Amino acid sequence: MQIGLGPIFHPVSPQAGAITGLFATVLIICAFILAIVAGLVGYCALCCREKTGAPEPRQIMGHRKLEMAWTAIPFAIVVFIFGLTARVMSSSDPAANRDPDLVVTARQWWWDVRYPAEGVHAANEIHIPAGKPMLLRLESADVIHDFWVPQLGRKIHAVPGHPNEIWLEADQPGTYLGACAEFCGAQHAWMRFLVIAESPAEFASWTRQQLQPAAKNGDASAERSQKIFQQFACLNCHAMNGLATNGSAGPDLPHLAGRQTLGAGVMENTPANLARWLSNPQAIKPGCLMPDFKLTEQQANDLAGFLESTK
Ligand code: CUA
Repeated sequence: MQIGLGPIFHPVSPQAGAITGLFATVLIICAFILAIVAGLVGYCALCCREKTGAPEPRQIMGHRKLEMAWTAIPFAIVVFIFGLTARVMSSSDPAANRDPDLVVTARQWWWDVRYPAEGVHAANEIHIPAGKPMLLRLESADVIHDFWVPQLGRKIHAVPGHPNEIWLEADQPGTYLGACAEFCGAQHAWMRFLVIAESPAEFASWTRQQLQPAAKNGDASAERSQKIFQQFACLNCHAMNGLATNGSAGPDLPHLAGRQTLGAGVMENTPANLARWLSNPQAIKPGCLMPDFKLTEQQANDLAGFLESTK
């Protein structure tokens, strides 16, 4: 996954559209000013240079009209940009007086995603229905993070003890890349997430599917995996429905197989990559909370197979 500058200029929500419009307007004003200043400097450098034998030019000390002009024009430009900015601020982040549709908690270094009304719990992938503004409440469980989906809206800080709210909306179905935009520790760069906008029917079906108990393959490796789960106390940190757990320090694991990436974007979600991750997470994402349990290759493969079977 790459974050390039490209997507910023292709807004897919009214909020991001307002910000991009303001950016383009300010850029055009600045380009115009740059052209005037560079043009005047070029003109003076070429046409007003000293000529051999010419007398000293007329010395001008102060020019009231010019000074009034070069004070009034920049002031008017600043007032104009201030007005535009205030308008965009209110349209990119309108006030909300209701409960949030989703609660996202930033953690070092992943995103916990909950839908309070539906009772759905996910991680690192945020599903939303396209065309509907979703009110998102952003919290932090540890340090300051920053939630940013360039194509969908502005950045907003996740501050411990101080929830912030933002509208999350996509005009069209699609997958939009998001990232943490505030340095938050060693693995800040691998704190990415996806916003997946779907048709309302697809979103409803995703919600129903998330509420189903994670299917298990019921064979011997599934039983071995459950034993490993209990032996290594995975459930102290991870939720896994069907198994008694209160863990929430790590991403919830039911339906892990349906996600596109592992480790908040650090690699593609495949059984081989999951086995690598389980074998030694510290080698892939040094400093993350997941310890190296020194699993044998067989144990890592069993666990990976089991988790990848829980759609
Ligand atoms: Cu979280 Cu940077």
